Amino acid sequence: MFYVKQGNMPQSRHTYGDINGMLREELFGEESFDGPYSLLYHSGEPTEVMAVEKKEKDGMKESMKVVAHKHYNALSYPRQGSFVTGRKVIMYNDRLRIGTLQPSDRMDVLMRNALFETIFFVHHGSGELFSPFGRLKFGKGDYVYVPKGLTFLLDYTQDFTAFILESRDRISIPARYLNMYGQIKEGSPYYTRDFRHPVLEGFRETGIRDVWVDFDDHFIVEKRDKTMFDVVGWDGYLYPFSVNVESFSPIVGKLHMPPPVHEHFSGKSFMLGTFLPRLFDFHPNAIPISYYHNNIDTDEVLFYSTGNFMSRRGISVGSITVHVRGIIHGPQPGAVEGAIGKKSTDETAVMIEAYDPLKFTEFADTIEDDSYMKSWIRK
Ligand SMILES: [Fe+2]
Repeated sequence: MFYVKQGNMPQSRHTYGDINGMLREELFGEESFDGPYSLLYHSGEPTEVMAVEKKEKDGMKESMKVVAHKHYNALSYPRQGSFVTGRKVIMYNDRLRIGTLQPSDRMDVLMRNALFETIFFVHHGSGELFSPFGRLKFGKGDYVYVPKGLTFLLDYTQDFTAFILESRDRISIPARYLNMYGQIKEGSPYYTRDFRHPVLEGFRETGIRDVWVDFDDHFIVEKRDKTMFDVVGWDGYLYPFSVNVESFSPIVGKLHMPPPVHEHFSGKSFMLGTFLPRLFDFHPNAIPISYYHNNIDTDEVLFYSTGNFMSRRGISVGSITVHVRGIIHGPQPGAVEGAIGKKSTDETAVMIEAYDPLKFTEFADTIEDDSYMKSWIRK
């Protein structure tokens, strides 16, 4: 991301300002000391942990069902847990976790993800993310990025619902949208000004001290008796951010544009994009929806958030489809004819292309629409 500075700090890094009120500098950085980082200035020592405990976590079990194109009624299960305990993994591989969150409970502990970067799309509701970087607001239609290793508390409304991607590798802006100076290029689907960073104000003391550190198959609980949210200044390039898809500019063309033009974030093992309300292709004989395609090297995941999804039979708001490598897919019978002459779409859908094969969970089995493979049979 871009450089941000908040609050107070010594003029030079790795120096002290006032010896009596010495601030405790923390480097928060990825890829050892070579990746993006920020420097935070705590009033106390962030390393003081009174005790650690191990907490078991509900394990993911792999589905035994056949791997083929999938349709999930992904929000058809009851609200449960908090952001810490209620994330439901629908599919995964060695690098990624993909699923949904419909919490019934507020967070009553802090969380830190030791292994995964997180980006979630806010399908319903709103909230605030509190971290040592300050307060970050989010609302419907936002992507919220939570760096690996961040200690945070999410406060959200009762209807908060999100589609979540967790990645072991860094989640970032695709390199092709950046010029050699690191600035977002002209022609990209968004601009630096669209991104919101945390501000060092407005944190309410909750008394919450325990930090649940997520290690994928278990938690380590840090027992603390002092707050970690004691930062008086920070600067750098690595911090949580939010950005709303309404500020994005979809790229459209004379003929059908392939999914990569809708890419918004990327990592080593995936790309993430958004299909947004947009005008369709303007060639007089254009077919404005996708052609048949065979994703030879990717599994293609779509979460349908708002609008009318005309190329997919049986899909509704809250659906997730997965089109797997090895099996061709495309419009269902009648969809091409039905699309001709249409001028625009009002859909909003999040797309993930996973480069390594995805596996599905036993939880996924409980929300699956088993008729989906038959939706391509002409009746
Ligand atoms: Fe596709």
